[in-house]
Amino acid sequence: MRFSLNEHVRGVHAPPISEVRSWVAQRAADAPALIDLCQAVPDYGPPADLLAQLHRAVDDPLTCRYTPDEGLPEVREAVCGRYRRRYNAKVAPDQFCLTVGASAAFWLAMLVLCQAGDEVILQLPCYFDHPMALGSLGIRPVYAPFVEKERGLPNPAAIAKLITPRTRAILLVSPSNPTGTVIPPDLLRELYFLARQHRIALVLDETYSDFVEAMPHDLFTLEEWHSSLVQVMSFGKSYALTGYRAGLLAAAPAFIEQALKLQDSMTVCQPRITQLALQYGLERLDEWVAANRLMMSVRHNLFVNEFTLPGNRFRLVASGSFFAWVRHPFDGRSGREVARRLAMEAGLLTLPGEVFGPGLEGYLRLAFGNIRDKAIAEAVYRFRQSA
Ligand SMILES: Cc1ncc(COP(=O)(O)O)c(C=O)c1O
Repeated sequence: MRFSLNEHVRGVHAPPISEVRSWVAQRAADAPALIDLCQAVPDYGPPADLLAQLHRAVDDPLTCRYTPDEGLPEVREAVCGRYRRRYNAKVAPDQFCLTVGASAAFWLAMLVLCQAGDEVILQLPCYFDHPMALGSLGIRPVYAPFVEKERGLPNPAAIAKLITPRTRAILLVSPSNPTGTVIPPDLLRELYFLARQHRIALVLDETYSDFVEAMPHDLFTLEEWHSSLVQVMSFGKSYALTGYRAGLLAAAPAFIEQALKLQDSMTVCQPRITQLALQYGLERLDEWVAANRLMMSVRHNLFVNEFTLPGNRFRLVASGSFFAWVRHPFDGRSGREVARRLAMEAGLLTLPGEVFGPGLEGYLRLAFGNIRDKAIAEAVYRFRQSA
């Protein structure tokens, strides 16, 4: 190329899932069949009635059109209804903007909050796309340390020490990707008030919150929640619609107003077909979501029982309904080396710990929520045989 590229973007590592998937093509022809514990995608599809609704929508020329930048009014109303049922929330449609996945919601949030040179505090281990986005924007990720015995839960005192005049937000993910750990409501409240006290935002990514049984937290019941909270949400996992890119940003109306300038110049709107799918899910699939939540929790129990039986040299550090965070037994080897060997020799696709932040080479992430009961037992058997 006879031109220079953005140094911030060049400094960011390649997407980890693509890297791990590239190993698959290099496997020997007689290697064991793959068990994919790499990308977190529900192994089931959306319900048939939602698909039938989409078939009908495809035949309607209106489906081909833009919608308002923030989304169709009836869909934002449906979001309010769902949030009232799920969080007992005090919400109104002007606090929501439908986005192209939670990924776009995150970019909107960061661009509204930060300029290059600002800082955002992330809890380790953190979801790899977050530092990738921050790095591309010239925003400095400041990492709150990972403490094994706390299973990666954020510690308000440790986070408070990291706040500087350049800090714009505390970024948390609950349930966590990669540990599956759910931040208890009281702890979340404490962190909300810490952010509030320092006049910075608490940005909360709740992509997996539909896999938590109880009400995930009570922040949305606070009259003034939007004065310090920005929520990034995905319905991709909730309704098995990951490819439709069904995301949401929840924040103060004045925040949404700024975000819409960016959305207008970036993606304009969430595709209309996605909004129709989302509306269907929000209005009619509470029970379906609850049934999948139960199934995931059964998978989780099965996985934990199998994995922690004596004789496994991989050690379970933390887990939740989609993910397990495990310590590998090969001291001195990076997570990447171990993950690659597991892929080549045992047919286990996992993600290396170091993609979730600095100093995490001793760990692997397993997205066991992707696979069914029988494959869980087989996967754990292969871990046991590999060490
Ligand atoms: C924590 C977290 N946030 C955001 C996303 C992206 O969600 P979406 O597919 O809606 O962009 C993911 C996807 O795996 C995730 O794990």
